[in-house]
Amino acid sequence: MKKVILVYFSPTGNTRKTLEAMAAPFGGAADVVDLTVTDAPVRTFDEDDVVIFGTPVYGGRIPSVARARLAGLKGRGTRCIVAVTYGNRHYDDALLELADLAKEQGFAVTGAAALVGRHTFGEIQTERPDENDLAADREFAVRALSGEAHEFVIPGNRPYRDGGSGGKFRPLTSEACVHCGLCVKACPVHAIADDCVTIADTCLSCFRCIRNCPKGAKNMDTEAYRSFAVAFTEKLKARRENEYYC
Ligand SMILES: Cc1cc2nc3c(=O)[nH]c(=O)nc-3n(C[C@H](O)[C@H](O)[C@H](O)COP(=O)(O)O)c2cc1C
Repeated sequence: MKKVILVYFSPTGNTRKTLEAMAAPFGGAADVVDLTVTDAPVRTFDEDDVVIFGTPVYGGRIPSVARARLAGLKGRGTRCIVAVTYGNRHYDDALLELADLAKEQGFAVTGAAALVGRHTFGEIQTERPDENDLAADREFAVRALSGEAHEFVIPGNRPYRDGGSGGKFRPLTSEACVHCGLCVKACPVHAIADDCVTIADTCLSCFRCIRNCPKGAKNMDTEAYRSFAVAFTEKLKARRENEYYC
């Protein structure tokens, strides 16, 4: 049985779910490096480890904060799969970027996947990844990790397009807030002050605070956001399918 290690940045959980599905045929993850909440770990993986890397797509790139946190992770010809999840618009250069990064850091990329997950904004593909997606992810991981390492084409362009920074939305805090501090601890970039108010300059718009607030106090209840969300949801309503490469 291969020892599978998951490495992900996943503010709202799509990427984590996907990677967990990929590890399932191998008895689950032997170890997890959660870059969502860990600052830049330093670690070198062995030749017989197997790593599955995953990040969301932010503006067609991997989030720059995830890129920075991946920098200290090195392989010694370690096999890996790279996977990006995106919100049904497009993944643009993100999958290629993650594969390039893994190769530069000493990994042998044997599979790459661009996978649809619920978009952070609006109500787009809200049930995804669904059971069919996760079943396909499991089947892919077995295929990608069983063959010999070889070159294969991963879609995307170099130089990569501009992107990878956060979005422009800044979650609000309603009177329902009980100052439990959960959002303060869970924010990937420490963009929530001790009084639970969002620090505008630092916030990524990842909406982790909104999705996880037990009181529903973190919100984006503004007229401007609501009208954007309705139009965005309509624009991206046509279902896209996952893409798997190995
Ligand atoms: C700032 C920001 C930018 C995003 N940019 C894109 C994009 O360019 N294309 C796309 O399809 N989805 C985009 N999304 C949606 C996420 O990629 C998608 O919801 C992803 O699955 C979230 O992963 P997570 O749940 O692991 O955090 C963006 C989300 C955020 C917050």
